[in-house]
Amino acid sequence: MQMTSEHISGMLRECAEKTTAYLDAVLPDADPALSAIVRPMRYSLLAGGKRIRPFLVQSFAALSGGEQDTALAFSAALEMVHTYSLIHDDLPCMDDDDLRRGMPTNHKVFGEATAVLAGDALLTEAFRMLTLPTLRGETLGCAVRLLSEAAGYRGMVGGQIMDLAAEHRRITREELLRLHACKTGALIRAACLLGCLCSPEPDEALQQAADRYAASVGLVFQIVDDLLDVEGTAARLGKTPGKDAASGKTTFLTFDTPGQARDEARRLTDEAVCAIAPYDREGTLTAFAFYLLERDC
Ligand code: IPE
Ligand code: IPE
Ligand code: MG
Ligand code: MG
Ligand code: MG
Repeated sequence: MQMTSEHISGMLRECAEKTTAYLDAVLPDADPALSAIVRPMRYSLLAGGKRIRPFLVQSFAALSGGEQDTALAFSAALEMVHTYSLIHDDLPCMDDDDLRRGMPTNHKVFGEATAVLAGDALLTEAFRMLTLPTLRGETLGCAVRLLSEAAGYRGMVGGQIMDLAAEHRRITREELLRLHACKTGALIRAACLLGCLCSPEPDEALQQAADRYAASVGLVFQIVDDLLDVEGTAARLGKTPGKDAASGKTTFLTFDTPGQARDEARRLTDEAVCAIAPYDREGTLTAFAFYLLERDC
């Protein structure tokens, strides 16, 4: 039976609710002395978001027979890193955005200094999340290494610095592919691989398939982000469209027409589907790849 887009949307909604409830529970605003930092952390973390990285963790955990409790803790860790990256990305010294997840950006509500600290605190708390499940030492070490490499200069931060540099000079298509793979792809890859790591006996071949799936859907995700920046509305996106052109960023649309960019995203989606076909018994990850291609927010 083929999974419909309604079915995958329902699964995503369910995953988002479960992840948000978990985040709410692990980061309570319970100590008045710490409220000045916990409130801004919770403001952005619980503001919504599609929770696509948690969906990948939980789907790969299910495929590999992994523990769902571990998958939830890994999901929380990734959402913390992702949310920190968004808070910092929106700062006046970076993309200077006013709207995120349908609400005023963190620094607009709490001020720039607090927004920087809320980001820092989410990043560090993410690593604490990895220690919550009962993982064996070797698996724990792999998880820490994966998240650290994906979040740091080899991954997301590396991509953000390439993105800033690309505001001032025209980059090549190859450089753009590297930039996207780091800026957005690294955390998506970490989500898929952390999902596989939830299993007590991680399967090497599944990890390789997950890696190939992640490389393709990660790029599709950022191509569609670039398209939505041109074609989307603030009401639907929950963030300000038109930012890339306003700051002169090199995106896929610097090289391709929207039609060509969509064709490339379709080709990459087919690659992702082929990579995961031997393992995707229920069709969840296939349907999810098509959701990422067709999403409008
Ligand atoms: C937006 O990510 C930032 C990019 C990596 C392009 P998402 O589109 O996953 O944002 P949320 O989590 O749903 O708000
Ligand atoms: C930044 O990409 C994604 C990260 C925060 C790493 P963008 O700057 O394109 O993200 P949006 O469009 O503001 O969400
Ligand atoms: Mg940016
Ligand atoms: Mg931005
Ligand atoms: Mg963008």
